[in-house]
Amino acid sequence: MNARSFNQWMSDIQERTEAALDKTLPAAALAPARLHEAMRYAVLDGGKRVRPLLVHAAGQISGAAPERLDRVACALEMIHAYSLVHDDMPCMDDDVLRRGKPTVHVEFDEATALLVGDALQSLAFQHLADAPVCDDPRQQIRMIRQLAQASGSRGMAGGQAIDLASVGVQLTLAELEFMHIHKTGALIRASIALGVQCGRPLAEEQLSSLDHVGKVIGLLFQVIDDILDAEADTATLGKTAGKDAANDKPTYVSLLGGTRARELAAEMCQDALERLAAFGDDALRLRELTRFIVNRQF
Ligand code: IPE
Ligand code: IPE
Ligand code: MG
Ligand code: MG
Ligand code: MG
Repeated sequence: MNARSFNQWMSDIQERTEAALDKTLPAAALAPARLHEAMRYAVLDGGKRVRPLLVHAAGQISGAAPERLDRVACALEMIHAYSLVHDDMPCMDDDVLRRGKPTVHVEFDEATALLVGDALQSLAFQHLADAPVCDDPRQQIRMIRQLAQASGSRGMAGGQAIDLASVGVQLTLAELEFMHIHKTGALIRASIALGVQCGRPLAEEQLSSLDHVGKVIGLLFQVIDDILDAEADTATLGKTAGKDAANDKPTYVSLLGGTRARELAAEMCQDALERLAAFGDDALRLRELTRFIVNRQF
């Protein structure tokens, strides 16, 4: 496993994720064609696929079969893509650029963007229920429940509600952390937790250690997103830079400044890497991916 470079591993997972998503999404010609075309537009051919990468990296720890991980990865990525489509709508962040392309409501229309999100969310759960992703069917039901919780009002959607309610508000660091752990962290944390459950059962202690890692990486991911929004340019990001300040959103940068935000991100990265050290070679990809998340340019 060590012989292959991280970059090679990453592009292999990205490729197989693209193929799996392509197969899972309804054909563009299938009625209602405009909705299906827009769903494919929102999901395919773009994005770093960080959640699928986390699913696969976590699955390596429990020796999970790649085909099972593909199914979980697709479900996570469809929920994520739906969250982006809605996040960009005029009633939320009002963004016109996503993954280097016009956002779904710009390329199609607002009603279609709304329905794309609805339909992707449903398809994610349908797909996760369609075939075994672990040996115990009762565990699979628990996994489906876990994804539902991570996506809903106690997870991503709840975090987004806090984000919208926080426009122009100065949050404390604890409040900001709470918002980030939900709006972005919940799906990242679920990616690791669900990926691990596709393989052999791990000890309770190992599962809770990995859950801590998921929580830390989830927060870390949004801290870096805040930093990039403030420091990178639109062409590199493939989405409008400087949008948080323009929308008067509280972020790690607005609260602490870029330097302190980077220091905190580095500390969180260290925390995750130390926890993962106990898993030895099995967690190699997850450690590499953690570093990638901190050092990414977009
Ligand atoms: C952007 O997520 C939105 C957040 C949750 C921070 P990503 O940075 O993973 O976006 P893509 O999937 O690569 O486009
Ligand atoms: C997005 O946070 C979180 C979700 C989509 C759930 P942001 O609003 O910061 O994401 P970007 O920067 O638009 O990708
Ligand atoms: Mg947002
Ligand atoms: Mg946004
Ligand atoms: Mg952002």
